Amino acid sequence: MDRGIFITFEGIEGSGKTTQAKLITERLKNEGFKAIYTYEPGDTKVGSLIRNILLDPSVQINSTCELLLYFADRVQHIEEKIKSYLMDGFTVICDRFTDSTVAYQGYGRGLSLQLILKLNETLLGSFKPDLTVLLDLPAAEGLKRNEKINKKDRFELENLAFHERVRQGYLEIAKFDPKRFIVVDATKDFDEINEEIYRHILWVLKK
Ligand code: TMP
Repeated sequence: MDRGIFITFEGIEGSGKTTQAKLITERLKNEGFKAIYTYEPGDTKVGSLIRNILLDPSVQINSTCELLLYFADRVQHIEEKIKSYLMDGFTVICDRFTDSTVAYQGYGRGLSLQLILKLNETLLGSFKPDLTVLLDLPAAEGLKRNEKINKKDRFELENLAFHERVRQGYLEIAKFDPKRFIVVDATKDFDEINEEIYRHILWVLKK
């Protein structure tokens, strides 16, 4: 059996990536593809405990400790879930992955990009997404959308400048790896975005 395709969704808060990732997974399933939605941090038993620490607004975390917790979650996630689904031929749709770490801990928090990439290489080797969908929009717009639904975890409490650095970070990462990325304008109409992503994924799956 062929290994499945590993697709990640990335974007700042309020970009709509979680809703789109879930809907795309459902569309693929309805079309008869084997597909599974998963997310980081938190989609394993250990991961959900790590997620609680990471997002708790009452917990102060040193940035390097935060970085290591994201990688701890990722290593468990890959070994426990992602790899086994891929081996079973599933298209794995993952809501956030290493690009989030580069964007948030690297560009957002200012940790060394070299350290993050070295950690990634040491822990994950050559394992990386086959395709990454980046939903891009101005940070102010994303935060406004989140305000409406009153989301307030440790990252959502960060200021606008932090989220704008994260956004610019994502755009830089995408620029350096254009073959892996599609960058979608997340200010567009929701259904239009969904169609654009879905068409692209179908094209990748049928290649
Ligand atoms: P979520 O809101 O998409 O569930 O993600 C939780 C938060 O974790 C979000 O604010 C982004 C942040 N995050 C990082 O800072 N680094 C990472 O590596 C990942 C996966 C998420």
